[in-house]
Amino acid sequence: MSNDKLLSVKNLTKIFRVGSLLFKKDLIAVNRVSFDIDKQEIFTLAGESGSGKSTFARMLLGLIKPTYGIILYKGVDITKIKSAKEKLWFTKEVQPIFQDPFETFSPLNRVETYLYDTAINYGIAKKRDEVYRIVVDKLNAVGLSLREIQGRYPHELSGGQLQRVSIARALITEASLLVADEPVSMIDASLRMSIVNLFKDLKEKFGLSVFYITHDLATAYYISDRIGVMLRGSIVELGPVEKVLNEPMHPYTQILKQSVPDPNPEKQWEEDIQLSAFDIREFTMTGCKFSARCPFVMDICKEKDPDNIDTNGRIVKCHLYR
Ligand SMILES: Nc1ncnc2c1ncn2[C@@H]1O[C@H](COP(=O)(O)OP(=O)(O)O)[C@@H](O)[C@H]1O
Ligand SMILES: [Mg+2]
Repeated sequence: MSNDKLLSVKNLTKIFRVGSLLFKKDLIAVNRVSFDIDKQEIFTLAGESGSGKSTFARMLLGLIKPTYGIILYKGVDITKIKSAKEKLWFTKEVQPIFQDPFETFSPLNRVETYLYDTAINYGIAKKRDEVYRIVVDKLNAVGLSLREIQGRYPHELSGGQLQRVSIARALITEASLLVADEPVSMIDASLRMSIVNLFKDLKEKFGLSVFYITHDLATAYYISDRIGVMLRGSIVELGPVEKVLNEPMHPYTQILKQSVPDPNPEKQWEEDIQLSAFDIREFTMTGCKFSARCPFVMDICKEKDPDNIDTNGRIVKCHLYR
């Protein structure tokens, strides 16, 4: 596997044992997922609720162990990291932005303390004035001033401000990859675009990469370079975001097409994509996981899981394109 990619994921799989004591079965929450993320790239993982996005993110962040598969970050297999030194390096490099900003911060601490501690604990700065300068600098980079947050506790700030503080933290550790799991879904609709735009800004200014998880295709369309569409644990279509969302090939992506925003982001970006209700049976059925809902279903779809077919730099997991 080449090492010039920032991140390479190969056959990543997570199987949960679910059900009651007598009726245990395997739920393949993430099913042999493979893709790369480049330096200075925004990659979106989109899919309806329950498709395995957060499970994927948690493996990426080292919070849960994959059942099998490889995650190479800058050429290092992070599932095998053991030493404290390597762990520190990895948590510095790959920073999370969580869905609920109020859970990210302790309600008992002033928000700025969190930033000072980050600079100190990661060995970014030692001297007091140096720590202060870095914190001020990074807050400015995310559109905040120290004055706005100074002396304040999390509940005294808005969700949008707190997400900006989380992003400032990632800038303090000089992270190369942000893993943002539905970072704006709990933020006031009128502020969402300004936060996702910040990802785009930071990509351009600092060469950051962002792994952006969302069920909102409108923001994905606007900020991403590439997108992977996830269905019941598998990526069913992957490619450049304009291509995938304007000319979707997979019938599942085609269903989402109606929801693709007007190119003018001001106009429609707020609209959430309403996908069909989550059905756990689709995780365990044989063949294509979309076959029960697909308008183009064929006999083979119910029998055999489709292969990943590469057509012009786009990957589609569908028997229609054999
Ligand atoms: N710790 C767990 N134990 C058992 N099942 C889990 C666990 N975590 C997630 N799942 C299941 O895995 C599937 C994918 O969940 P998740 O990754 O949270 O999806 P998403 O983030 O796309 O909504 C769901 O069916 C969920 O119930
Ligand atoms: Mg989730």
